[in-house]
Amino acid sequence: MTEDNAQANKRIIAIANQKGGVGKTTTAINVATSLALAGRRVLLVDVDPQGNLTSGVGLKGQRGEGGTVYEALTSDVSPDSIILPTQVENLSLMPADRNLTGAEIELVSMPDRERRLQRVLEPLRGRFDHIFIDCPPSLGLLTLNALVAADAVLIPLHCEYFALEGLADLVGTMRRVRGALNPALDIEGVLLTMYDDRTNLGQLVARDVREFFKEKVFNTIIPRNVRLGEAPSHGMPAVLYDAKSRGAAAYVALAKEMLERHAA
Ligand SMILES: Nc1ncnc2c1ncn2[C@@H]1O[C@H](COP(=O)(O)OP(=O)(O)O)[C@@H](O)[C@H]1O
Ligand SMILES: [Mg+2]
Repeated sequence: MTEDNAQANKRIIAIANQKGGVGKTTTAINVATSLALAGRRVLLVDVDPQGNLTSGVGLKGQRGEGGTVYEALTSDVSPDSIILPTQVENLSLMPADRNLTGAEIELVSMPDRERRLQRVLEPLRGRFDHIFIDCPPSLGLLTLNALVAADAVLIPLHCEYFALEGLADLVGTMRRVRGALNPALDIEGVLLTMYDDRTNLGQLVARDVREFFKEKVFNTIIPRNVRLGEAPSHGMPAVLYDAKSRGAAAYVALAKEMLERHAA
C-alpha cells in the first residue's frame, strides 16, 4: 500500500442494512481487522444496542473512562474518553451496551439529534485512517446518525431469496439524508454475503443485485463459512481466529479491494 492510496482512503464508513443477520457486524470486525493488520489505524464504532461488535472483538461489557457510545451521543464526554484499545494493534473500539437502547428515545428531544454521532467522530478523522460504524437492524435515529456522520455506506446483502426486499427503504433513507443532512453521502459498495455456491439461488441473487447496483457491487463475495460464525463466541475476529479459512480470506480480499478502488 502506497502513501497515496493511504490518503485517498481516509473515510468514515457506515455499515448499514435494516435487516438483521445479513453480516453487518461480521463485516465491520473482519474488514477493520484486516486493515489494522496491514498497518492502517482503524476505529470501530458500535452503534447497535445489542453490542455484538463489542463482544465480537472480545470487549463485552467494557467501557471507556467516559463510558460508551451511549454517553458519547447523549452527553458531553470527550470522544477520546470512550475509545478502547483491542487485542489487535492499530484497532480501537468505541463500545456499546444495552444502555444504547435508551438513546434512540432520548435523542428525539435533543438539539441536533441527527448530528450527535457526527460531532463525536469528526474530531477523530485525523487520528484514524478508517472509521467503521456498525449500525443496528433498523432505520431509526441511531442509523440516521451513522448516515449523517459517514462519507459512505457499505451495504451487506445476504444472498437469499428476499435479499433486495426492503432495500428501497434504505436507499430512500439515504436519499433523504443526502437532501437535508449530508449531501455528499456516497455508496461505498454493496457486499454479497453468506454466499453458497452449491445452490443456484445464490447465483441468481448475485445476478439480480449486480443488475440493480451495477459497478457498486464489490467483486469480492463473502461465502457462507462456519469459521465466520464461530469466531465471535471466542471474542476474536475470524481473520485471526482462523486466518486460513475461506471466510477470513474473503474479508482480507475485500479490504484489499476497498483500498484499490480508492487508489484508482
Ligand atoms: N459469511 C458467513 N457465513 C456464516 N456465518 C456468518 C457469515 N456472516 C455472518 N455469519 C453469522 O451470522 C450471524 C449474523 O451475522 P452478523 O454479522 O451478526 O449480522 P448483522 O450484524 O447484520 O445482524 C452471526 O451469528 C454471524 O456470526
Ligand atoms: Mg450486527
